[in-house]
Amino acid sequence: MEKISRTKIIDLLKREDFGTAVNVKGWVRTRRGSKQVNFIALNDGSTIHNVQIVVDLANFSEEILKEITTGACLSVNGVLAASVGSGQKAEIQAREIEILGACDNSYPLQKKGHSLEFLREIAHLRPRTNTFGAVFRIRHHMAIAIHTFFHQKGFVYFHTPIITASDCEGAGQMFQVTTKNLYDLTKDERGSIIYDDDFFGKQASLTVSGQLEGELAATALGAIYTFGPTFRAENSNTPRHLAEFWMIEPEVAFNDITDNMDLAEAFIKFCVQWALDNCADDVQFLNDMFDKGLIERLQSVLKESFVRLPYTEGIRILEAAVAKGHQFEFPVYWGVDLASEHERYLVEDHFKRPVILTDYPKDIKAFYMKQNDDGQTVRAMDVLFPKIGEIIGGSERESDHHKLLTRIEEMHIPMKDMWWYLDTRKFGTCPHAGFGLGFERLLLFVTGMANIRDVIPFPRTPRNADF
Ligand code: 4AD
Ligand code: MG
Repeated sequence: MEKISRTKIIDLLKREDFGTAVNVKGWVRTRRGSKQVNFIALNDGSTIHNVQIVVDLANFSEEILKEITTGACLSVNGVLAASVGSGQKAEIQAREIEILGACDNSYPLQKKGHSLEFLREIAHLRPRTNTFGAVFRIRHHMAIAIHTFFHQKGFVYFHTPIITASDCEGAGQMFQVTTKNLYDLTKDERGSIIYDDDFFGKQASLTVSGQLEGELAATALGAIYTFGPTFRAENSNTPRHLAEFWMIEPEVAFNDITDNMDLAEAFIKFCVQWALDNCADDVQFLNDMFDKGLIERLQSVLKESFVRLPYTEGIRILEAAVAKGHQFEFPVYWGVDLASEHERYLVEDHFKRPVILTDYPKDIKAFYMKQNDDGQTVRAMDVLFPKIGEIIGGSERESDHHKLLTRIEEMHIPMKDMWWYLDTRKFGTCPHAGFGLGFERLLLFVTGMANIRDVIPFPRTPRNADF
């Protein structure tokens, strides 16, 4: 085959220099046509759109033609031509075709219209579908949006450890990391496992959050963010929970809760605007295929300012709804940890725009949040979104050494693991605040997908770690 340098399909479809010799490489999506002419839809992942390859059958051997099946990988040399029938400006009149990889009819993506559930079972192949191509391109663009946002604002991207000995959220949902022989564990007289001879010399786990180390960095560098994998062994099989997810955690010295809310709102809006600006074709596809209200919802979030409301007010609204006959599955009362149905009622039914709920009861929030003067609540903030519920959780931090220590003791958090964290409050403590955005929750919003398993390439959930 003649050596012509490859053009990506996304670039080729923009070209108008018809008559030029070009090469494309990609996978066959469909093949149709008559006894004289065949049309191959070829995709190389650079765009949701396929390029149409026009094949005059008389010019190719039977041996080549029989290998051009759905899923096969081809290299095509041909002439760029104006297209009338393909839905695109340009198509390719094939001159030479090389089969890079044949694909027999056991390929599971023969027909269109597989269910998302079925595609999860073939997660190794689903990136080849239009839907997952779109989702994973958007995922990439959102990562770039996040780095761009914080970089432009002068934040330092700070890498926090994945293996840790501290449970930031104190919820006991950590996966253990050990090199111990699980068949032969040594225990002390009280039956507790002895970790002295384990790899780290102590019990270690996968992190549930980079926040504590993020706070160390913010109280030195001023403003930082983390962006990395996070692990939670919570046994919740819901469309919004993963055992392994990615989290973005900015932490800023001298910010109070209001600054924190301003940052969160600006951040999400920046990401949504980025998706509309940089992923237009993919977002349009998902809008048309799965969620006819997607683009409208993205635009409306940009227009509206988020409601800011104390938890106590939120409970009043929910209680009023119950009094008027609204049925919730879980009870509503002051002190309850809100369920997703409650959060969504506030956002979708009551306010019809995103809500930032603040000042939660201290007993349902983590030890590090700044305590309010009422002795009951802490300066927490959760950002609640339509269709998702909680997308961000954050707070102003308790900067007072004594108050923080008291809270740690009240909540029975093992002190020996916390000395380094407490040092920030001992040596030049400062007001500071931060939050965590669940990357996949953001992607649920931006893609309109309904299940979090469909916005991460290889989801980890209870009883599932395939691929
Ligand atoms: O509210 P969370 O637990 O807050 C923290 O971890 C804080 N340390 C953040 C901080 O202040 N720096 O989690 C933050 C966000 C949630 O709002 C949610 O979007 C996401 O992380 N999240 C999950 N996403 C997917 N699967 C799970 N199991 C998640 N748990 C939390
Ligand atoms: Mg939370």
